[in-house]
Amino acid sequence: MIIAIDGPAASGKGTLGRRLAAHFGLGHLDTGALYRATGLRVLRAGGDPSDPADAVTAAEAVRPEDAADPALRTDEVAQAASKVAAIPAVRAALLDFQRRFAATGPGAVLDGRDIGTVVCPDADAKLFVTASVEARATRRFRELRERGEDAIYDAVLRDMEQRDARDSGRTVAPLTPAEDAFVLDTSHLNADQAFEAALSFVSGRSGRP
Ligand code: DC
Repeated sequence: MIIAIDGPAASGKGTLGRRLAAHFGLGHLDTGALYRATGLRVLRAGGDPSDPADAVTAAEAVRPEDAADPALRTDEVAQAASKVAAIPAVRAALLDFQRRFAATGPGAVLDGRDIGTVVCPDADAKLFVTASVEARATRRFRELRERGEDAIYDAVLRDMEQRDARDSGRTVAPLTPAEDAFVLDTSHLNADQAFEAALSFVSGRSGRP
């Protein structure tokens, strides 16, 4: 059983992915972490995330254990991830890993931007999780403040808009709902309500409660 979850930054897709994976006893892959790990490797090597040669060298060096690095969660790395993600050869280098993960064990939940459209077009259930840019920026802002970081709402909103534009506007695998995806807008839902709505869709599709 494969569940594909796509959507923009801070839409709630990661939390939803973890909960659905736990509910159905499946593995979970946050594919954004692979792009973040690529971006982080470029920054640490003193390279340019928009340079295809720098970015591809980094993508080929990414290892599963990179996903646990807390440094992946900074906004600088998020912007670098969004830049490397626009390079076709980077996406090709990370595709095999994602497909192998999906094919292992009893099935998997993958979340990202192009899971339902490119990585797992035959997924049993596809969700496109979204929310208004203001709702997503507010969530991100609160998260940063709770971590004790000195965030400014307007700056968080601007970064989010820039990343949305880059992720949706790129020519290769842009962020867009698959034709057969269930679009779930979480702007006015809490995490439990979003999970219930997603579970009801996936159960209906798969016949598994
Ligand atoms: O989900 P995230 O914020 O961790 O993703 C970081 C960046 O990686 C995002 O701006 C776009 C890119 N990405 C992608 O292009 N394709 C994916 N499947 C996952 C992430």
